[in-house]
Amino acid sequence: MGNAWFETVAEAQRRAKKRLPGMVYGALVAGSERGRTIDDNIDAFAQLGFAPKVAGHKNERDLSTTIMGVESSFPVMISPTGVQAVDPEGEVAVARAAANRGVIMGLSSFASRSVEDVAAVNQNVFYQMYWTGSREAMVQRMERAKDAGAKALIATLDWSFSNGRDWGSPQIPEKIDLKTMVKLAPKVINRPGWLWRFGKTGKIPDLTAPNLQPPGGQAPTFFGAYYEWMQTPPPSWEDVEWMRKEWGGPFLLKGVTRVDDAKRAVDAGVTAISVSNHGGNNLDTTPATIRLLPGVAEAVGDQIEVLLDGGVRRGSDVAKALALGARAVLIGRAYLWGLAANGTAGVENVLDILRGGLDSAVLGLGHSSVGELSPADLHIPRDFKVTLGGSGLTES
Ligand SMILES: Cc1cc2nc3c(=O)[nH]c(=O)nc-3n(C[C@H](O)[C@H](O)[C@H](O)COP(=O)(O)O)c2cc1C
Repeated sequence: MGNAWFETVAEAQRRAKKRLPGMVYGALVAGSERGRTIDDNIDAFAQLGFAPKVAGHKNERDLSTTIMGVESSFPVMISPTGVQAVDPEGEVAVARAAANRGVIMGLSSFASRSVEDVAAVNQNVFYQMYWTGSREAMVQRMERAKDAGAKALIATLDWSFSNGRDWGSPQIPEKIDLKTMVKLAPKVINRPGWLWRFGKTGKIPDLTAPNLQPPGGQAPTFFGAYYEWMQTPPPSWEDVEWMRKEWGGPFLLKGVTRVDDAKRAVDAGVTAISVSNHGGNNLDTTPATIRLLPGVAEAVGDQIEVLLDGGVRRGSDVAKALALGARAVLIGRAYLWGLAANGTAGVENVLDILRGGLDSAVLGLGHSSVGELSPADLHIPRDFKVTLGGSGLTES
């Protein structure tokens, strides 16, 4: 077997690629069109430089924070993803790892495990919803999440059903039953480790969305749920406000890229926003979120909590986001690679990598807490920052 521990997220990704059937790996890479946004999310972090100090470093450093009033041992949380067929325990494995590391679990309504199962292993769950189905169905889903103990709602509204990838989309079957398994045999047979993990549980991955199950009905298949979502007329700002009021607790609007939207989100009464381009899965060529963050944070950072997601693969990325005005970041693929590489321990491994890297940055920059990070800690190249939807013309 060799050593299951890995030292970087890049290594976790290499192991995930080796372990997973190509179609599952491809579903996690995701992205759209040319993949420019996915690449920029990562490249932009590398363009920012650090300004480390040589002496006077602090021996004790406080990395802890709160996100919408919920404690987090360091400023990273699990971003909701429709994790399908990566690991037999799926979101429960992720939520347990997050709990073991004092980290908040964002759970997708398109997840393969129920909010009840997930809340049973992590008491800090934020439940994520898209704008899909009737209002009655949305209220019922919110009530269910609240009853399960979810502490905040994440409304993700930046999806526009763009599809088509120059590198090809994976063919994902609706239901992976035995018959499909046989059909897929050539694709999964060279990934015996992945199959073995499901084999041990006596279950084969089931592509349903249990959190969207209507009372007394059956859980829809993933594709059935996707169809309902496509059929639902998109929400207005009044709808956002309606959702926030219905929820009645901490509310995070995920998917903001523009300053004018950030301001409207404040008007709609949200608790927090995440500057996000859906990890490069929405409209390709949307700029990297780390480029958009400073403008958004400057406009609304003193009124609501500003988070960021997209491209975070290292603790130093977390430090850079905090220095440019984020309170915390959400991670997507980083933990999916860890999950695929080594289950719960793999997700813990990823969180440890991020925590260690953040601590090194805080140490090297001479700070004693994450709250002290500021733009002065960075070299920011000219033309790095991008402001969309600012006053007057949209800059580039
Ligand atoms: C495979 C996959 C599935 C995703 N599913 C969801 C989802 O169900 N709900 C949601 O709000 N965001 C979803 N996202 C977006 C993530 O929450 C997050 O915004 C993104 O992954 C951050 O970029 P990163 O992967 O570079 O960290 C998904 C992303 C990926 C890669």
